[in-house]
Amino acid sequence: MSPSPPRLFALCRRGGSVGLWTRTLVQTRAEATKLKTIDDLPGPTLSKTLFWLFVKGYADKSHLLQGVQKNLYGPIWRSKFGQFDLVNVASPELIAQVIYQEGRYPVRAELPHWKEYRDLRGQAYGLHVDKGQEWYRIRSALNPKMLKLQEVSAYAPIIHQVVEDLLKRIEFLRARSPDGVSVSDVTAELYKFGFEGISYILFETRLGCLQEDLPKDTERFIAAVNDMLTLSEIVVIFPRWTRRILPFWKRFVQAWDNLYDIAQKLIDSRLADIQTQTERGELTEGLYLTYLLSSDKITRSEIYISVTELLLGGVDTTSNTLSWALYHLARDPRVQDRLYREINAVCADRRKPSVDDLQAMPYLKAVIKETLRLYPVVPGNGRFVTENEVVVDNYWFPKKTQFHLCHYVVSHDHTQFARADEFMPERWLRAARVTPGPFRHHPYSFIPFGVGVRGCVGKRVAEMEMYFALCRLMQHFEVRPRGDDCATIQAKTRTLLIPAKPIDLRFLQRA
Ligand code: HEM
Repeated sequence: MSPSPPRLFALCRRGGSVGLWTRTLVQTRAEATKLKTIDDLPGPTLSKTLFWLFVKGYADKSHLLQGVQKNLYGPIWRSKFGQFDLVNVASPELIAQVIYQEGRYPVRAELPHWKEYRDLRGQAYGLHVDKGQEWYRIRSALNPKMLKLQEVSAYAPIIHQVVEDLLKRIEFLRARSPDGVSVSDVTAELYKFGFEGISYILFETRLGCLQEDLPKDTERFIAAVNDMLTLSEIVVIFPRWTRRILPFWKRFVQAWDNLYDIAQKLIDSRLADIQTQTERGELTEGLYLTYLLSSDKITRSEIYISVTELLLGGVDTTSNTLSWALYHLARDPRVQDRLYREINAVCADRRKPSVDDLQAMPYLKAVIKETLRLYPVVPGNGRFVTENEVVVDNYWFPKKTQFHLCHYVVSHDHTQFARADEFMPERWLRAARVTPGPFRHHPYSFIPFGVGVRGCVGKRVAEMEMYFALCRLMQHFEVRPRGDDCATIQAKTRTLLIPAKPIDLRFLQRA
């Protein structure tokens, strides 16, 4: 008897010979069942897609379009749009099937416009553009001090320093507000926190992003991230000849120039410090950048681009997640109270939490998980499978098929998550998850940091930043919506999922 597909996938993962396995599976199944092909998939016509995007207004709500299309076509469908030809998968089982066949060196998506920019400026490709063994070599150099728990614990004092500055900043802003307790656009403040935190880890230097006068380059970086992420979705749609008349490509290049320039300056300045210290015979102890510079695994130009990408990945993500967490805590005093009680029980008298303390705070972790379930910062991920032919559901796909993994719709699926639209951190507590019942779900229905060797390199740093920040904020303040304003704030997509309107909150001092 031949194993069922899920078991075959499991065998394949353990066996390691993915290519061989996939060929065997494809041949056996193609012969046995006459698999369907991409042309048999349902999906919208180009005019329908344009209608949804630009008439129905889904252009900046592509996360919601996942649900609309899933309802119409089922959990797997094709969308063709300009040069895009996507196979969308929108159930945990099908996402798992794609991931199991992603190959040894998974690729998220071809980014021809990012590659073109790198070629234009003669830069190294970096994590997002490099492929195969080249990508893996860079990734292997970046991983150890980002993903090993023990190594990441060394950043705890640094993160705490930045969190203390965030508390001071909140204190300052609320004191300055008309009612003495409000902070407008919390995300903008958390953005500065995210940038300061990741920069301190990377460059071992404080930039002062949480000071009253924002450093010019920080402002420039934040604006450039916004431009680059917005324009990245636009430039790729228009044919090259339009660049002579439309402003988008020029602005996209300018945004990347700014990002790269700022990262390069910061790296060079740290390099100069190291050199001076070495000349003085001082022992150079450092964190991430020093480690990268002393590693012989990647070149200087790869360090420039990798650090730019780490900065890029480390700012929007944590800041938006923390903003949504505070937004929900402000609207749900019951959840906030439970969180506060847990934090207070582990770290009484506003003691700063240690990495070990976090182990005793399951509800804190549950709040962050539930936030990421409702607002996955990366609402749709991708896999461009180049190494293998792929079988998903009952379809066969050739090599170089682009899959779109619809995480947003899956993590809002009522068949996976009971009361899926509600903010219920308790669903993540161990007792709820191990007991058969409404809180059990498929593991691939919630993978906000991605999965496997290509998964998020900053996951551990991000988690530590968010846990420490939320803990300290709760120890000091009770958060409430501003005034009676309990209005719902929708999410929108700008490559990443972000609040569509500023989140304004009151921070009431705890006794
Ligand atoms: C709430 C926080 C964060 C979330 C939800 C998040 C999510 C993700 C996701 C979904 C991916 C794609 C993974 C895949 O394809 O399987 C990714 C990749 C990546 N993330 Fe994060 N991220 C977060 C924070 C960070 C931070 C703090 C950094 C920097 C320190 C970072 C740097 C990166 C980089 C460089 C990649 C590309 C990795 C590669 O292609 O090899 N992320 N992230």
